[in-house]
Amino acid sequence: MTVSPELPQVLVIDDEMGPRESLRMLLKPNYRVHTADSVEAGIRLLREKRPDAVVTDIRMPGTSGIDGLRRIREIDPHVAVIMLTGFGALETAQEALRLGANDYISKPFDAKEMRDVISRNVERTRVHRTGEHAASEIRELNSRLLKELAQKERLASLGQASAEFVHDLGNPLTIVWGYVQLLAKKLEQQEKGQGAENPTSAKELNIIEQNVRLCRELLTMWQSYGSEDASPNKPISVAEIVREVVKGVATIATQSGVELKADVSEDPCTLLGHAVQIKRAIQNVIVNAVQAAAEKKGSVTVTCLPKDFYIDVRVEDTGVGIAPAQLQKIFEPYFTTKQGKSGTGLGLYITKKVVEDHNGSIKVDSTPDAGTTFTIRLPLLNN
Ligand SMILES: Nc1ncnc2c1ncn2[C@@H]1O[C@H](COP(=O)(O)OP(=O)(O)OP(=O)(O)O)[C@@H](O)[C@H]1O
Ligand SMILES: [Mg+2]
Repeated sequence: MTVSPELPQVLVIDDEMGPRESLRMLLKPNYRVHTADSVEAGIRLLREKRPDAVVTDIRMPGTSGIDGLRRIREIDPHVAVIMLTGFGALETAQEALRLGANDYISKPFDAKEMRDVISRNVERTRVHRTGEHAASEIRELNSRLLKELAQKERLASLGQASAEFVHDLGNPLTIVWGYVQLLAKKLEQQEKGQGAENPTSAKELNIIEQNVRLCRELLTMWQSYGSEDASPNKPISVAEIVREVVKGVATIATQSGVELKADVSEDPCTLLGHAVQIKRAIQNVIVNAVQAAAEKKGSVTVTCLPKDFYIDVRVEDTGVGIAPAQLQKIFEPYFTTKQGKSGTGLGLYITKKVVEDHNGSIKVDSTPDAGTTFTIRLPLLNN
């Protein structure tokens, strides 16, 4: 007779042949039955066959059923274990239940009761195992999803980082380009003999050099992106940075017909922070102001004046202004009204992030058609 492999399996452990064989006969029609005459042999079969239920005698020579139960639980915490107890051995049965047996039946057993108990317990194991299996699949799926999510987040933040990088390079490159054009014109005039007797290019070259250096610094900053100890805070002079930015932007302003005025404190206005970051933050606001003023051939006034414990960098323009509805969106990443003019809409988003990283704040006042004022407030290093 062949036994279907799909039949549930029952392992019977009993040192006495009588009950062992009568159980085999009783269960054979509905189960695949394995029998063992000792705990040792039973444990071997348990590992090999992974039965759905174990029926084990309690009292056996050598290793007892109770010790056997402990070992079964170590190997398989979910398999149903039914203890066979001698007549009147209620206490032992109760101890077995306490130790993790699922049921007990007193010998001599009633055939119907035995079939019921086994069928109930086989079902129980199967439900447990299916649940366990589902749970482990869910756990695996979950951990795979988490891994994928982490990867996507890394990619997304890398995408965001590259967009910021592209934006950052834009400002110094525009400045460099402006000065290169200026120098080219000077050279041309000189060749034609129209220029000044001894035209000096030192100032322009200096600004070009400064902005190429900024590009390099930005590159270094982005290369160390994500690493914790990228660059520690250092005492930096905000006044110095504002002066450098104003000097750099001056040509673009002139080229766009914008008058650029600056009133920068003689005091260095020192704070603890990252010079490159502060530079990009301030540059964004001043470049925006020049762009806004250009449309009206207006002016931009930059002031940098310390007050008690902080410094206000104010950038005021007489440009197109910002409509109230747009005012609340300007700090959002990718918000721009300069479509087609290569605006990425990241400038103010970056500025706000940098300013807040330095425990500062940024505020804006604007009147459409009249102009806009941005105020960046940064806490100074107390000396
Ligand atoms: N001084 C200003 N005057 C008028 N509008 C401004 C001014 N500054 C910012 N804005 C508005 O805020 C928007 C967002 O500015 P942001 O600097 O973030 O991006 P962008 O200048 O459009 O693009 P990018 O900085 O990448 O060149 C601008 O498109 C513009 O509409
Ligand atoms: Mg901008």
